[in-house]
Amino acid sequence: MDNNRNIFASKIGAILAAAGSAVGLGNVWRFPTETGEHGGAAFILIYVSFMLLLGVPIMVTEFAIGRHGNGDVSGAFVKISGGKKGWRWMGLLPVVSGFLVLSYYAVVASWTLYYAYEALLNGFAGKTSAEFQKDFEAFSSDSVTPVFWTVMIIALTCGIVALGVQKGIERGSKIMMPLLFIFIFVLVVCSLSLPNADLGLKFLLLPDFSKVDGGVILSAMGQAFFSLSVGLGCLCTYACYFRKDVNLMKDGLSVASIDTLVALLSGLIIFPAVYSIPDLRPDAGPSLVFVTLPNVFQQVFGDIPVLAYLFSLCFYLLLVMAALTSSISMLEMSAAYFHRNLHLPRSLSAIVVSVVCVVLATFCSWSFGDWREVKIFDMGFFDLFDFLVAKFIMPIGGLIMCIFLGWVVDEKVLRAELTNNGTLKSPLYPTFRFIIRYVAPLCIFLIFANELGLFSYLF
Ligand code: PHE
Repeated sequence: MDNNRNIFASKIGAILAAAGSAVGLGNVWRFPTETGEHGGAAFILIYVSFMLLLGVPIMVTEFAIGRHGNGDVSGAFVKISGGKKGWRWMGLLPVVSGFLVLSYYAVVASWTLYYAYEALLNGFAGKTSAEFQKDFEAFSSDSVTPVFWTVMIIALTCGIVALGVQKGIERGSKIMMPLLFIFIFVLVVCSLSLPNADLGLKFLLLPDFSKVDGGVILSAMGQAFFSLSVGLGCLCTYACYFRKDVNLMKDGLSVASIDTLVALLSGLIIFPAVYSIPDLRPDAGPSLVFVTLPNVFQQVFGDIPVLAYLFSLCFYLLLVMAALTSSISMLEMSAAYFHRNLHLPRSLSAIVVSVVCVVLATFCSWSFGDWREVKIFDMGFFDLFDFLVAKFIMPIGGLIMCIFLGWVVDEKVLRAELTNNGTLKSPLYPTFRFIIRYVAPLCIFLIFANELGLFSYLF
């Protein structure tokens, strides 16, 4: 086994890998979709509050648990709790979640890869809005083409994970994250120079609280968890590879800042673009980046085809890279377990997990087409997996980890982990401990109770 190299070589590599996991389709696709559907700035305010109040503390919680484990998530829970063997089961959380999340994430990731390929071949040139709509529907409901692209994206992910922690994950993140930022800045500048960009800005900056209800609050919480990749044990898995001198609190804040910045910048790309064409609406839902945007690129730059070409290509390459840095963290969650605990070679673990995910992802993909009528709890496979991950496992996983670190783990061990054995000043430590002991559990409980209708019995 490659135990010696199972560690990120540099501090910046650790931050970029964690940021790579966090920054993904959640920022560039899910965030604009949710923001568009839930009234713009009001949703963003609630989302950012959840990021600070719950997201960052839970991320640091995951970092602390993971790093304490020296390379093994299930061992980490036992070790940090001072030998309580029952917590070993929590090590299965990232394994199961890894399968679920990658299986539906890969479907949307595959759409981005297909669109990048189409953009490269100049396949969008001269299409009308109705054609974009029709083509997207035909493509996403087809039973073969999206499955082919899903296999491609999972194979790419598998290739990177199989290369190992330093040569695959760390190197991949170090290359893709800076590129992603370059693409984002170019696209923001272009988008802000479009006609009516100020309307898009207003939508992002002026809150309309009339759309806020319990469902919107749950969605904002789900989005904060999803976007930061917290609650599934994904960051525990990565933190197993952190060096002992990484400042967990500082890194948590850096990763959350990068993630929020990318989400807001994506909003700055997408909403000004949407408002640049009079009859388009920001609440187009999931098809926003696959129907609305390519149409915008064609209409706005219709007279200068080379710009339409470059803008589309940059945008979909951005999506592909964002998706890849996240999907490698998802695959790693499950593959690391098979590698560490069942002693399979790393590449074989990655392949086994990938094959299962291809099968599950195929079901998710078909839920947009042939299997549209197949419903479990009134949801198709894709929606079911998304619901289970973002609205259920993430908050519950986060809740359990907060209770674990706040109440089960010896305070001295926690303090030592967050101050690197007393060598770092950690002025935020008391606030962090208070949040994970009281605020986060209470918040998550109240939101769930509200969703389950508990309050309607009481009042
Ligand atoms: N945070 C990722 C995104 O924004 C998604 C993700 C969720 C990644 C869970 C890993 C684990 O796209």
